[in-house]
Amino acid sequence: MSQPRIVVVGSVNMDLTSTVSRFPVPGETLLGTAFATAAGGKGSNQAIAAAKAGGDVIFIGAVGDDGFGRELRQTLDSAGVDTTLLRTVNGPSGVAAITVDARAENSIIVVAGANGSVTELTDSDLDAIANADVLLCQLEIPLATVVAAAKHAQLNDTTVILNPSPVQDLPNTLIDAVGILIVNQTEVEQLSSITDRVEHLVTTLGAGGADLRSRGSAVHADSPKVTPVDTTGAGDAFTGAFAVEWILDRSRALHFACVAGSLATTVPGAAASSPTRTAIEDLLESSA
Ligand code: RIB
Repeated sequence: MSQPRIVVVGSVNMDLTSTVSRFPVPGETLLGTAFATAAGGKGSNQAIAAAKAGGDVIFIGAVGDDGFGRELRQTLDSAGVDTTLLRTVNGPSGVAAITVDARAENSIIVVAGANGSVTELTDSDLDAIANADVLLCQLEIPLATVVAAAKHAQLNDTTVILNPSPVQDLPNTLIDAVGILIVNQTEVEQLSSITDRVEHLVTTLGAGGADLRSRGSAVHADSPKVTPVDTTGAGDAFTGAFAVEWILDRSRALHFACVAGSLATTVPGAAASSPTRTAIEDLLESSA
């Protein structure tokens, strides 16, 4: 079967990650135990995860004309993501200040930088969306761009998957265009007034697996047991893998994505932690 064509319209950040024994309280200075910079951003993470899971992936977004921007583009290229439609704009790239504690939990502050400049979709962007199997979006770029991309996808029978993070109010035009909404347990509560309106609702439950509620059916998949070191980007690994497998074999997409998300927690960092298709298949087989 041919590779699923996935277009991601979203963010790309340099993640500045400090490791600590516990999160600081307001006003407190804490000594960290490690620091690392690595490519991140929900859009880029999901694009890389989808490419590693077997997708043919195009990324639409923006980096700044700084050293971070060059590194971020290079990371996407190396993962096999098509960056022809990735702009380089004047100014800084997006950054995320991340803290990871001893339980592998994280807290994240994102400063949009170049991601805020993604306000227009070009004719080439629109063509890519129209020719894709799946449009994958998050909410770290201007909302109006996400809405325009999703409406164009809907018009052209491209399945829209939205991971509405960081959560915000969603306009009706966006809700109407979304085929699959992927949320975590916090987001599903925050968006409870609209979740019944989408055809497929996926709720990720961390180590507890995930639920898929479609009109007329509901399924659950467990996550394999792993020892997590960093949960940053695990939801992105889940979402990118889910998008690919939804096109290839819908019946196992939820389980496939749970395995991808679990494996991502066993490796530090966001983009780099998403597993290859082979790794996902191996663990799927051994946990069957
Ligand atoms: O989902 C994890 C991502 O959120 C990080 O890579 C960070 O950049 C923020 O976008």
